[in-house]
Formats: sequence, C-alpha cells, structure tokens
Amino acid sequence: MKLSLQQGKIEDVQADAVVIGVFEDSYSVFKKLVTGADSLIKKKIFTGEFLKVYGSGSDKIKGDRVLFVGLGKRGEFDLEKLRKAAGVTAKALQATNYKKIATDLVEVNVAGSSDEEVVVAVTEAIVMGCYRFTKYKTVDKEKINFLQDVVLVRGSVGKKLEEAVKKGEILGNGSNLVKDLVGMPAMDLRPKDLANIAKGVGKLKNVSVKVYDLKGIKKLGLEALQAVNYGSAHEPRFVIMEYKGSSEKPIALVGKGVTFDSGGIDIKPARYMEEMKMDMGGAAVVIGTIKTLAELKAKVHVYGVFASTENMTGGNAYKPGDIIRAYNKKTIEIVNTDAEGRVILSDALSYTEAKLKPKAIIDFATLTGAVMVALGRDAAGVIGDPEMIKKLKKSGDRVYERVWELPFYDEYKEYVKSEIADVKNLGCPNGDAGAITAAAFLATFIDKTPWVHVDIAGTAWLDKDRGYVPKGPSGYGVRLMVEFLTK
Ligand code: BES
Ligand code: ZN
Ligand code: ZN
Repeated sequence: MKLSLQQGKIEDVQADAVVIGVFEDSYSVFKKLVTGADSLIKKKIFTGEFLKVYGSGSDKIKGDRVLFVGLGKRGEFDLEKLRKAAGVTAKALQATNYKKIATDLVEVNVAGSSDEEVVVAVTEAIVMGCYRFTKYKTVDKEKINFLQDVVLVRGSVGKKLEEAVKKGEILGNGSNLVKDLVGMPAMDLRPKDLANIAKGVGKLKNVSVKVYDLKGIKKLGLEALQAVNYGSAHEPRFVIMEYKGSSEKPIALVGKGVTFDSGGIDIKPARYMEEMKMDMGGAAVVIGTIKTLAELKAKVHVYGVFASTENMTGGNAYKPGDIIRAYNKKTIEIVNTDAEGRVILSDALSYTEAKLKPKAIIDFATLTGAVMVALGRDAAGVIGDPEMIKKLKKSGDRVYERVWELPFYDEYKEYVKSEIADVKNLGCPNGDAGAITAAAFLATFIDKTPWVHVDIAGTAWLDKDRGYVPKGPSGYGVRLMVEFLTK
C-alpha cells in the first residue's frame, strides 16, 4: 500500500473513492457536495452519526465516488474515534475492491492533539485496518483485494506532516509484523525461526542481535529455559537484541517466546489448543518494538530480550514435582508444567538484570488465562513499579492499547512459596488470583531494578473485529511501547 500526502481540496482529487469526514453537528461539506442533502438529512438517511456512511456519485468532485463517513458529535470526538473512522472505512473499501482512495480525515481537528498526531492516527489505522493474513491461502487468492494507493489530502502540508505519515506507516507495519508472527503456525515458527526474524531486524541501523542456541544457553546457565524445552524435539533460543539510538542507560524489554504451549505433561484440553501458537506474543512485541524504534530512528536505548521454546510432552519432558534452578540460583518447584511461561521468564529476567544492568525492565507475556477472566481482551494486566505503571497507563490510553493495574499485596507473594524449594510455579491450585500470583512468581527473579510485568494473554488475540483491529492476532504492544519509550 502506497501512502502519500497531497496538498489541495478533496473535491479536486482523482481516486476510485474519496472519503470525507462529517460531524453530526456540522455537515456543510455534505450539503455542498450532495444534491438533495437537506432531504437526506431530514429523512435521517445520513446524519453524521459515528461510523454511519453515505455513498454516492457526485459531479461536484473529481473522484469516481464519494463516501461520507459520520464522525459523531464534535465535542465527543477523539483520536481513537478518528482511527476507527479511518481504519474501518479503508478496510470496507479494500474489501469491495477499491484500489485508490483519497481522504480528508487528516484535516479533522481533534481537541488536545496536534496536526501531526492526527495524521499519525489516520495513517496507522488505515495500515492496521487493511491487514490481512494471506500467507496460507491458495484457493481464489486473486479474489483477495488489497488497497494500493491512499492519498491523504490537506489544505496545507509540510515536512512535519510528511514525517507523520511515515511514522504512522512504520507504527502500523510494526503492529502488523506482530500479527504475522502471532498468527504463524508453530510448525513454521520454531524458536530458531523466531530468532532468525530477530536477526533480520539486526540488519537495521543501530541494531545488534545475539542469538544463543542450546549449547550457548547451557553455557549461560539458563537451566529453567532448558527444563521447559526438554519435552520438545526442537532446540530453544535465547535472544538479546539491542537498539542504540542514544547513549542513555537502556531500558530492557523481555518477552515470553513459547512457540507452542501444549501444556506439557499437564496437557491442555483439546478445545482452543490451536490458539497456543500465539504463546510467543511477548517475544513478538519485543521484536516488533525494536524494529519500529530503529525505523523511526528514535533517540532511545533499548534492549529486547526473549527466551523461546516449545512446551511439549516428549519422553524427556519436565514433570510436575521436578525442581529446577534458575539463572539467579533460586530453586523452582514445578507444580504444573503448563505454567511454563513464568519458568522461562525466571531465567530471562534474572539474566537481563544481572548481565545487561538496565535502568528498568518491562516484560510482555501471554502468561495467564486468569488475566482474560479479569480484564477480557480490552486491557492488559500490569503489576510492578508504581511510577512506571502511571506512565504506562497514560501511554496506553493515548494509543488505545490500554493497561490496568492489578493489586500486588504482600499476601499474594506468600502463595508461591514452596515447602521444599525457594518458590513454586503455581499459586492456588484452584486458580485464585492467577494473574497476580504469576506476577508474584516473576517478582522473585527481580532483585532491585524497577520492573513492570504486562500480561497480554487477553489483548494479544481478538475473538471479534474491533474497529481497525481485525479479529485474530491484534498486534497489541508495539504502539504502547513506542509511545512509552519515546515520550
Ligand atoms: N500460555 C498460557 C496462558 C494463556 C491462556 C495465554 C490463554 C493465552 C490464552 C500459560 O502458559 C498457561 O497455560 N497458564 C495457565 C497457568 C496455570 C497452569 C497456573 C493458565 O492460565 O491456565
Ligand atoms: Zn502454559
Ligand atoms: Zn504459555
């Protein structure tokens, strides 16, 4: 998809369809361009109500067709509504085989937001809204339509707005990369494949990537990652990415990269097990964020670390009752092999803190079904450093990838104490406070660095379309992290 910014009036642009935003309380453009507009308004055929559309031909414009999209009441308008209007319309036009569209949505004023932010929002939403996962389609592939040309039309343009288009495109593509990775079948995305994708990102300027294979992992002393890997026929990987866009002390992102979670010996029920190819969603956020920061040439210094393995049931699989030792030497009693994410993160977190010495750590993990019970798919659960969470919440609200803090009372930390080892990988067997006790386990592997844990088990995958985010992998996390790290 080619995105471009053009100076002028939307009426003068040639395209298969031009999309014009109309507020419920001021539809002068609609009246200007549509014959009989008054009667359409009176009969409530088009009112400017949010996301209601009215399409027609018009001899008052150069484009073949015009599509008016309702923006609702001006006073209730915000960036997220703008993203929805842009993304949903672009997606619908793409589906009906429009190839070139033009829109003046980049001209809309949003209270409290700059012109650049408006342009970023429209662009990223169009790129995200038009996302399709077509890699495995062969039948009628030619019937899958793609929008080719999107022209963003404004009365005045300039370098800053050109850059905003580029930024929106990079952010949208970063999000879409996460969707691709999360949607990929586990047989085509083994730990080594995920590591190779990270290596590919290492070709970008100021990015370096180090990959440890099984031999390297043994040398580093990551026994917890190895233990989860015992039941799998495929080697694990431990990956350290670094983006150095400034000389400041780095922040480290750490991701769970379980390319398939069968549950292990505590095997999961068959229903929905196929979705467990998504269990590397945290690692995908790490890779997507490093790539996006590099493309944006952001002036930040960030590590992206992830541990990757399958969780399988092979003859050598780790078992309930096993006791293993994490990188920081703390011992872990395995009570449930399906609580494997926290086990591999114990190594990744303690290694990151001790060896990379970042100023802060944020981990992303599809860690618990419990977080979905608590918050659904509309917010990720966060636990950790209060100052970081405050900032994260603001970032999340702005980009609409929201987080919600869960309580973290000392009592919860008692749940994961083991009678025979330092810590056990299951809190309450009946699942009480499952998302919180998982975080309590992780906290054991952080010594003193400010740290936030983000549980994306709910947000990484949507069970139905939500505006400009199509159903399936959501791409959640990249825009949140870029906003957090660069503002
Ligand atoms: N990968 C799962 C969590 C998950 C569930 C992610 C649903 C996405 C959607 C994780 O490894 C897991 O199995 N968690 C268990 C923990 C339990 C055994 C303590 C869970 O949530 O049931
Ligand atoms: Zn599991
Ligand atoms: Zn898992």
